[in-house]
Amino acid sequence: MRRNSWKSQFFGQILFDLIPQIQFQTTRGLGLLTMKLIHLKHAITFLFLFLTMCVFIFIMRMTKNIPKVEDEVDPITATLQVSTHHQRNHSFCSFRHLSPEEAVEENLILNSIAWPETPPLLPPRSINDTSDPAHSSFIILPKEGGGQRIVGDQLHVRITMFDYHGRPKKYGGDVLLVRLHSPALDAGVAGQVLDHLNGTYSVVFPLLWEGSAQVEVTLIHPSEAVAVLHRLIYDQPDQIAYNALFRSGSVKETTICNICMRPTQHPLCDYTDVRTGEPWFCYKPKTLSCDHRITHTAGPITGKGLRKNILFQRGMNLKVFIGASGPAQVTVLSKKEDQPEARSRSVSEAAGYYYKGVWQSLRDTPVHQFNTKSAITQCLRHKEIHMYGDSTVRQWFEYLLKVQPDLHQFDLHNLAQSGPLLALDYKNNIKVTFRSHGPPIRFTVSSSEMRYIANELDGVAGGANTVIIFGIWAHYGTFPVEIYFRRLMSIRKAVLRLLTRAPDTLIIIRTPNPKSLARFEEFSASDWYSIQQDKVLRAIFKGINVHLVDAWEMTLAHWLPHNTHPEPPIVKNMMNVILSYICSGNSN
Ligand SMILES: *[C@@H]1O[C@H](CO)[C@@H](O)[C@H](O)[C@H]1NC(C)=O
Ligand SMILES: *[C@@H]1O[C@H](CO)[C@@H](O)[C@H](O)[C@H]1NC(C)=O
Ligand SMILES: *[C@@H]1O[C@H](CO)[C@@H](O)[C@H](O)[C@H]1NC(C)=O
Repeated sequence: MRRNSWKSQFFGQILFDLIPQIQFQTTRGLGLLTMKLIHLKHAITFLFLFLTMCVFIFIMRMTKNIPKVEDEVDPITATLQVSTHHQRNHSFCSFRHLSPEEAVEENLILNSIAWPETPPLLPPRSINDTSDPAHSSFIILPKEGGGQRIVGDQLHVRITMFDYHGRPKKYGGDVLLVRLHSPALDAGVAGQVLDHLNGTYSVVFPLLWEGSAQVEVTLIHPSEAVAVLHRLIYDQPDQIAYNALFRSGSVKETTICNICMRPTQHPLCDYTDVRTGEPWFCYKPKTLSCDHRITHTAGPITGKGLRKNILFQRGMNLKVFIGASGPAQVTVLSKKEDQPEARSRSVSEAAGYYYKGVWQSLRDTPVHQFNTKSAITQCLRHKEIHMYGDSTVRQWFEYLLKVQPDLHQFDLHNLAQSGPLLALDYKNNIKVTFRSHGPPIRFTVSSSEMRYIANELDGVAGGANTVIIFGIWAHYGTFPVEIYFRRLMSIRKAVLRLLTRAPDTLIIIRTPNPKSLARFEEFSASDWYSIQQDKVLRAIFKGINVHLVDAWEMTLAHWLPHNTHPEPPIVKNMMNVILSYICSGNSN
């Protein structure tokens, strides 16, 4: 399916097989005629294989009429790309069926997020050959054309990576996050990183406030760790287990469940959702039947290998700052009166920025501040707000209950983690609900309440008073990204059906955000994975009438530490973004 990566792997392999032979020939000279003949034979075999592949690919393209993705890919990048096709072949996960159109889209999107691979030609022999944040550095580049930096300019930074012996890295793929901030002004903005695939990275920031601004560069993982994470996701997608409790009368049994079940002789219960086709399986209990499943719970965490892995050491190469080789900050002057508004490209690439602790949007809807109870009530009056997803969406439900004393939580006798939860304000006719997404989820959920977001959306009539909010990411990080892609595609279909029957429905989607990576579950399902989720999510919902809460940038740009569950000041800013979408500027 992922022809591009697969093809590059194939050619890459042949190329790498051939290189030692070429070197051998040049060093040993013309002496060994027999050796040369063998090489000639190899070369002819290679040529023959190459031509066969070209014909094959040509035919594939003609017959399937698939857009030519690879033409846009730089050939150097292509040979370095990680082949997930190869990995998926190995995986024992169940992938829901895709229509031919969906398969084309998957191919396009997954190719666009392919991570540069650590070249197989230079496998790191020891930790000494891997990226060392202590030896690496960044430098602020002088302003093009000289002169003082003013608001509206761009700031360019170059990061150069070195290994533990202080030798420059020759390939890319390091996971780097960057921000520009000013502690005195409670200001911050995320920057864009461009990987040159040669050990250097270019960074660009928009300059959005007057005063000082300092650059912060964080190495999330060295590129060599990415290869480990990538393998882990495909080799051990079951490293985090899920359980089901079965009960009949006084008989109770617990078995293991997953999307990815290793092939065994053990019979399975197939709980694949008939409407979405999303797969889910549990081992069949010994005495009870599959119909006796009553509760879904989080199971044990099996794969703990990374905790001791030298490539994942806190304070050494996991989420560590990289220092500057010169000044790390700049002074930005205010724009002069007569200067035109210089909204540079990078400004429009950032979703927004913090100034005095308040998130300012640089995209569609301006963010208003809903600082009083009455402002929030006025915004939500006569609204029905349905929230779906993981605990990062439940944070918003909890925030609303806290700031709105008129909103009363109705006791549905459900678990606080998974819900469904319901809050009502009778006087103002406001209804807020929360429901967790379907499996995989590490909450305890009654089997009868375990629902897929796509199916739930099909049960919403929609309309101008309906607000749909969902966020689904944190429980997916240990699975092949194809599974996340398929889940979002199911949801997108339901979103499109909802928007067709009720185009006035407001739909708000939460993106993933950087995590603290302090706990095992977090660094196996690391920020590297969330970066890809974030891109997949944006690509899938691009061009559809939905609004994003850019949790990624809102967490990255903030001075509080990264956390799966962002802290209250960030949640408050997110809620202001949501309320601004709901009231689109007509309140406050
Ligand atoms: C892909 O899977 C098939 C069937 O399971 C197997 O025969 C083949 O060797 C696999 N290919 C790779 C590249 O692992
Ligand atoms: C890494 O380099 C240091 C210093 O040269 C050396 O002492 C150490 O043995 C090397 N480690 C490995 C695993 O090669
Ligand atoms: C890396 O690539 C960039 C972009 O092509 C280039 O400007 C830079 O000089 C290269 N650096 C090294 C060390 O090769």
